[in-house]
Amino acid sequence: MSLAGKKIILGVTGGIAAYKAAELCRLLVKAGAGVRVAMTEAACQFVTPLTFQALSGQPVLRSVWANDAADGMAHIHASREADLILVAPASADFLARLAQGRADDLLATLCLARTCPLAVAPAMNREMWAAAPTQRNVQQLAADGVRIYGPASGKQACGETGPGRMLEPAELLAALADATGAGVLAGLRVLVTAGPTFEPIDPVRGLTNRSSGKMGYAIAQAATEAGATVCLVSGPTCLATPAGVRRVDVVTAADMHAAVLAEGRQDVFIAVAAVADYRVEGVAPHKIKKSAADLQLNLVANPDILADIAARPDAPFCVGFAAETEHLAEQAEAKRRRKKLPLLVGNLAQDTLGSDAAELILFDDHGQHPLPRADKLTLARQLIRHLVPLMNR
Ligand code: C5P
Repeated sequence: MSLAGKKIILGVTGGIAAYKAAELCRLLVKAGAGVRVAMTEAACQFVTPLTFQALSGQPVLRSVWANDAADGMAHIHASREADLILVAPASADFLARLAQGRADDLLATLCLARTCPLAVAPAMNREMWAAAPTQRNVQQLAADGVRIYGPASGKQACGETGPGRMLEPAELLAALADATGAGVLAGLRVLVTAGPTFEPIDPVRGLTNRSSGKMGYAIAQAATEAGATVCLVSGPTCLATPAGVRRVDVVTAADMHAAVLAEGRQDVFIAVAAVADYRVEGVAPHKIKKSAADLQLNLVANPDILADIAARPDAPFCVGFAAETEHLAEQAEAKRRRKKLPLLVGNLAQDTLGSDAAELILFDDHGQHPLPRADKLTLARQLIRHLVPLMNR
């Protein structure tokens, strides 16, 4: 993982995970980045600035008033020179200040005065993370283009278990390599299908699959972050298009098939959509009237978009999904072989449908790789990192 020549401001705020930021600082320096650490006063209660000064080889930025620049504009210069600011850990209080655009300490001011991308790695007690104001602030920050890394789920310093742990330093390092342009998919074209399809019965009724589209949208976002040019072919969902992604809306499986073919040659195809396997033969032109008699619908098979693309002589690297309700491993591996896929992602339908989090198992030629329960964006980033070495083989 190289960050050679990259200038990174590592913001540290007050939380027990601040001790992990010391290891992160060490990893960043080892990866070749020039690191300038900025600490809030609360952070200094957990780890001393001297630790970060020793690890980064530079004085720590702490106060707006201790301004060592000749023009007194250190708060602006520091972030102007940076390729990225990462705040890790980002406390609930800091996220709130950031969401409000406050400039009440040096780190907040650096974030406000920046021209470079900003990423945050939240870390806090699980109730603080779940609290409505925190979730509101996180949504606002995401809408403002701030990258949110984590939090992970697990045992917390307070003794409770749940989401709120800072991502591990190695995971943050990998995410940063993507965010600073050294992305693992730089220069590649990636096509993602997401959401359900809707197969009409008549003008007001139809058949569909249960799918929120959240996993596919998260994968499109993770692929963009990794430097790819991403097209998202989406069935009907209520989700916002991730920044930087081009979205093509479709309704039926036939539309989705046509839209995927129309995109032309790709490097990677990730089929996340829950495509309806059948459509109704002879869609009624007018609303079918209710009667006491039973109604028979004749269903005809839809094209298998993924199998079609995977069978092409110039096939991109194809990734399939399998949401099963039982016997996940056998079903998923059988599906991978049937569709001739180098990588298939399996999950339990009852565990993931509509949820913001999931637990996945990746199936490839080397066997099974479980990804423990996490939010879908974290899983999507892990999936992207997993597929790159398989592509190059
Ligand atoms: O065969 P099954 O539907 O279980 O396989 C699921 C995988 O195949 C998913 O990746 C899904 O997006 C893809 N698929 C497809 N076109 C279909 C059916 C499934 O691309 N008609």
